[in-house]
Amino acid sequence: MTREKMRIVMLGCGGFIGSHLLDRLLAENECEIHGWDLADYKIKEHLAHPKFHMHRSTISSPAALQEIEQEIEKSDIVINLAAICNPAEYNTRPLDVIHSNLFDIYPLIELCAKHKRWLMSFSTSEVYGRTVASYLPNNNYEDPNLFELRENETPLIMGPISNQRWTYACAKQMTERLIYAHHMESQLPFTVIRPLNFFGPKMDYIPGRDGEGVPRVLACFMTALLDNKPMYLVDGGEARRTIVSIHDAIDALLLMLKKPHQAQNQVFNIGNRENEVTMAELADLMRQTYARITGDMNYKEHPILTISSQDFYGKGYEDCDRRMPDLSQAQTLLGWTPKIPLTDALFETMDFYHQNYA
Ligand code: NAD
Ligand code: UGA
Repeated sequence: MTREKMRIVMLGCGGFIGSHLLDRLLAENECEIHGWDLADYKIKEHLAHPKFHMHRSTISSPAALQEIEQEIEKSDIVINLAAICNPAEYNTRPLDVIHSNLFDIYPLIELCAKHKRWLMSFSTSEVYGRTVASYLPNNNYEDPNLFELRENETPLIMGPISNQRWTYACAKQMTERLIYAHHMESQLPFTVIRPLNFFGPKMDYIPGRDGEGVPRVLACFMTALLDNKPMYLVDGGEARRTIVSIHDAIDALLLMLKKPHQAQNQVFNIGNRENEVTMAELADLMRQTYARITGDMNYKEHPILTISSQDFYGKGYEDCDRRMPDLSQAQTLLGWTPKIPLTDALFETMDFYHQNYA
């Protein structure tokens, strides 16, 4: 923290990352937080905290913007987490996704620029789109220059407009560009974070219990295990992801708050290179882990089927092939290295879902 008591505006504070950030900020730091979200069920335990003030409203109405501006004037930093960020919605609610990740955020960027307040904005690793390697014959993954994701070098490559999967990535990219333009033209202090698949308790809803639709992969596989239904590998489960524990990720965010001079005016990948898996490997690892959690060895053979992306997500879906982050920015500037292995992150997360939903 820069001064004794930091004042924070947190937008989208009731979601997965917001709930974990609040846990740590309120437990470990002297700070005063004003949070905005429509949902508060993941942060119930903090609602009565004297240092936390919940505004249960959208961030996009003119009345809310007025209220947010008053708070921004008094605050040191604005942390923006608000978004629609579930891949099943990118091609099925494209206009809502673009509004949520671009147009709803633009007035907030302007307010931060006007008052010269540090804007920490959550973008996504999806801004990189597909790797160069994936467009080459035989998908050449031997040369890291063709697939490693470097914040200030890697080109951002997205598919055609008809593949509406890219509405989210494109809106986030435009938001990054607007933030950067305001930085260059009016000295807006900023930090852009590109998370790579944070996993942890409270990540997503379980369909049929506390939500409807198709959540992110962790909750999809978890639902299959809880409901004794097959796990589905989209297009054979060859896509790769690097998974980082939410606790490692929150460590990185807290370091940014502690080291504003290193964190400001930078873009950071936050991920874990050691935890790379294909989705087929993830499904297998999850059924093995669930057998350990429940003591029921039948889960080791839980059925895994394959399904086409068209059947699973509908028309307009296209996948990111691989996300291998270069983490040298976060290591050099913040002194951050993720530590939690995938097996531990999965055990903790799946145990949470087992305790709460089984
Ligand atoms: P989440 O869906 O759990 O949280 C987002 C929160 O924003 C929700 O609680 C939602 O109610 C709130 N919100 C959305 N629109 C709002 C509005 N108009 N007004 C008020 N609140 C609103 O998502 P998350 O996983 O916590 O992600 C947070 C941010 O990080 C998002 O910007 C997302 O794009 C980005 N991100 C997350 C991951 C990840 O692995 N979790 C990866 C890449 C990017
Ligand atoms: C996610 C979301 O876009 C965002 O939360 C975030 O911005 C981004 O991660 C990120 O970390 O940067 P993605 O990893 O594609 O993107 O989303 P998941 O739903 O978790 O899917 C991961 C992979 O699993 C995809 O290949 C998907 O096709 C596959 N999948 C998903 C399955 O094989 N089976 C399922 O049941 C669900």
